[in-house]
Amino acid sequence: GPGFLNITLTDALLASRLSALRADVLTPRSTEPDSPPVVVDYSSPNLAKSMHVGHLRSTIIGDAITRTLEHRGERVLRQNHVGDWGTQFGMLLTYLDERRDAGDADVAHQLEDLEGFYRAAKARFDSDPAFKELARANVVRLQSGDPEYRQRWAEFIDISMAHCDALYARLGVTLTRDDVQAESAYNDDLAQVVEDLTERGLVTESEGALCVFLDEFTSKDGTRLPLIVRKQDGGFNYATTDLAAVRHRVGLGAQRSLYVVDKRQSQHFQMMFAVARAAGFLPGTHRFEHIPFGMMLGEDGRPFRTRSGDVVKLSDLLDEAQERAYALVREKNTQDDDATAREIARIVGIGAVKYADLAKNRTSDYVFSWDTMLSFEGNTAPYLQYACSRIRSLTERAAAAGVEAGDTPSIDAPAERALALSLVRLPETLEAVVETAQPHLLCTHLYDLAVAFTTFYEQCPVLSAEREEERQGRLALATLTGDALRCGLGLLGIEVPARM
Ligand code: ARG
Repeated sequence: GPGFLNITLTDALLASRLSALRADVLTPRSTEPDSPPVVVDYSSPNLAKSMHVGHLRSTIIGDAITRTLEHRGERVLRQNHVGDWGTQFGMLLTYLDERRDAGDADVAHQLEDLEGFYRAAKARFDSDPAFKELARANVVRLQSGDPEYRQRWAEFIDISMAHCDALYARLGVTLTRDDVQAESAYNDDLAQVVEDLTERGLVTESEGALCVFLDEFTSKDGTRLPLIVRKQDGGFNYATTDLAAVRHRVGLGAQRSLYVVDKRQSQHFQMMFAVARAAGFLPGTHRFEHIPFGMMLGEDGRPFRTRSGDVVKLSDLLDEAQERAYALVREKNTQDDDATAREIARIVGIGAVKYADLAKNRTSDYVFSWDTMLSFEGNTAPYLQYACSRIRSLTERAAAAGVEAGDTPSIDAPAERALALSLVRLPETLEAVVETAQPHLLCTHLYDLAVAFTTFYEQCPVLSAEREEERQGRLALATLTGDALRCGLGLLGIEVPARM
């Protein structure tokens, strides 16, 4: 009948798993330099505008996945597939000309507020036919490779990319300029992609556009959906570029590639991968996967926006996180000077924003709530960071009292065993993250671990335990827990302050 099978691990097994933990799990595995790389496509903002919350999620989630893969010995190639091409750039460069003619020659200054600049350019484009005409002509100049125009475009891209770099630095994200593999990098390959698709008999002309229709993709009424690979006007598009990118990634030797992109693009990826397979660009054995995530919602359950309905500037969001964390830190921590409190607040604030995003099952939408993410209770960054700082202060006090951690962690008392059991489940958790690209599994595990530690700490005195062996065994268990928590938070890209 229904019931449970209870398995009790022997002390010997638990002890041996614990003793292997530091070398096997907390230490990064070495990477075989020749192993096939895993390509992770993440962040990938559009450089015409400033990065928005959708790209924030991709950046944070992608970076956690990447760090975990690398820690487990995978060779990872990051690909920041930034949008740097397309008709908007004609409009933006035309507007840049206009502003320069009006007296502002400093491009960097003009682009300080990229979002505002984009909006102003769009307004000109929509309201003035002459401007629109000029913008169109400039797209042609750009796309035909006019060197002067290319130069101006490159300058624009560089400034916009610098905005991203600043944000990456602030978030502690591992992406660098070397990881940028922009859409424009595939330009020269696009005509060939369409030619190859045509040669394989996959292309149909429909209303002047070139499309691929596959039987598996139909609309509700049963008609097949097109994947457009060349537009009516002869231009190539997002899908063509992605097909070229698939070939490029396969060429890099990747057998697995993860595309960390908004779930609203699911159909694009399914169709694009299917076409790539049908065309023979993507071998059937290769795991190219869309790693979708849901939207970030405001507390009203609507897409996350400012009170006035504008897109939220990410730097403002991070400023607010740090400000709010500072108020909290100051409330609880009166001993440190202001600069120290600011630094703690930076680590807690940024950590809270990242953790709140990572801790949810990524496929669902999630509600952005300052109060929840900055709470010192529950599955939050501050709770875990605080657990780390308690353990650190314990080890400091132990050192001062001359207590050394023993070689074997103590696993006698129920709370000790529960903590040890949680610790030894870290490896399987990391394997699951590698396999499923779901960082929330790691968050849940770290939270459980911190909770188990809290119970242990309440029930099992460490420094005031009676027997020396007990003090040493408990200190060993606490130290291992601290190391595991720090390792796990590190894989999530979250810093831990020395103390809170
Ligand atoms: N730039 C795209 C966007 O903002 C995301 C690109 C994702 N990566 C890809 N290979 N399509 O929607």
